[in-house]
Amino acid sequence: MNVVLGVGGGIAAYKAAELARALIERGFGVQVVMTSAAEEFVRPLTFAALTNRKVITDLFANRSAEEVLSSSVEHIRVAQENDLLVVAPATADLLAKFALGLAPDFLTTLYLAFSGRVILAPAMNTAMWEHPATRQNAATLEARGNIILPPDEGLLACGTLGAGRLPDPEWIAQAVVFWSNRRRDLEGEVVLVTAGPTQEAIDPVRYITNRSSGKMGYSLAAAAAARGARAILVSGPVNLGPPYGVEVVDARSARQMRDAVMSRLGEATIIIKAAAVADYHIAHPAHQKIKKTAARMSLELDPTPDILAEAGRKKGDRLLIGFAAETQNLVAEAKRKLETKNCDMVVANLVSQEGTGFESEVHEVTLVMRTGEVTPLARASKRELADQIFDHALKLRLALHAAHES
Ligand code: CTP
Repeated sequence: MNVVLGVGGGIAAYKAAELARALIERGFGVQVVMTSAAEEFVRPLTFAALTNRKVITDLFANRSAEEVLSSSVEHIRVAQENDLLVVAPATADLLAKFALGLAPDFLTTLYLAFSGRVILAPAMNTAMWEHPATRQNAATLEARGNIILPPDEGLLACGTLGAGRLPDPEWIAQAVVFWSNRRRDLEGEVVLVTAGPTQEAIDPVRYITNRSSGKMGYSLAAAAAARGARAILVSGPVNLGPPYGVEVVDARSARQMRDAVMSRLGEATIIIKAAAVADYHIAHPAHQKIKKTAARMSLELDPTPDILAEAGRKKGDRLLIGFAAETQNLVAEAKRKLETKNCDMVVANLVSQEGTGFESEVHEVTLVMRTGEVTPLARASKRELADQIFDHALKLRLALHAAHES
């Protein structure tokens, strides 16, 4: 899939370089178009090196009449060859020109000639973003079907604290994946995913937890949303931003995660328990900070509620997918969990495998299905695996329906 990345002239233009890299990592062909104001902030060479393509700069600038004539239809060619136009940062000036249909340079001309999906990531000073003129332009563009990714709040380069910051390039890249996805096979589904570790308090400043990063669960929620599902992500404490298009519900302890899952279970059609829930919590957490002494100390632990098992009892005809992290007997253990917790599929992995697992970007898993099928998936990124898990889940549901009918 090919994307045009339009770069406007704002301080955030440097973040567009990171966005270009994030888009290439996700398999997009990226053609960068810079306004002349953008060139004041970042050199085209940066983008050319990242994208391995010539950067398109101003329509007429520095060109001979001959060159202008020969490239006079370049904006039409670029419009036809690309599926998406992403503008980041979209300045107040660009929003105004897009809204009015003014076309003084290549990017604005391309905008008019472009019939694909347009995603605009505005970034500017808070007062400019909140000005009625900008508000109205943004509303006009949105009403026209352009996707506006609202700027983040935070400390801006001008020293103001407020809305106007360009969102994280990784998040913008997720939005591009979301809007470029032609696969809408999860439309109508409500996918409830849990992710991350839980924290079980010892006292007001200490807790026990595990090494889960939440990446697998976050990838599953992002994949579900990109394929058209309504995605609800019940997340333990992680260092990840909310995935684009996903509703995030925060939970800290196993008990909180259980309550959050049970309160949303009724809405779900597919439940995926990727969280690494603590199996035990402190029986009596101290209300005050525990003071150090020379004596040995021990903590008394009670089992936490098994959320997956409870979901298994209440699932009805929902598809329930559990996870199993094992150090040995992978398939046998996964099968045991599938049976005892009434799952339809267990995504099993060996935690001892080099280079995969908790903090890693890549993973290697085996799918164990209720039908008895055991499918090992090749090592891949967690995002790719998320899509494969949904592919198999949809197939499995058909197989289960067919078995039920006959
Ligand atoms: N799980 C859960 N609630 C718990 C513990 C685990 O919902 N209190 C879920 C996890 O989200 C995961 C699955 O159970 O989907 C398997 O987790 P795992 O820790 O591997 O399994 P356990 O049931 O703890 O089994 P064991 O300790 O025997 O490996």
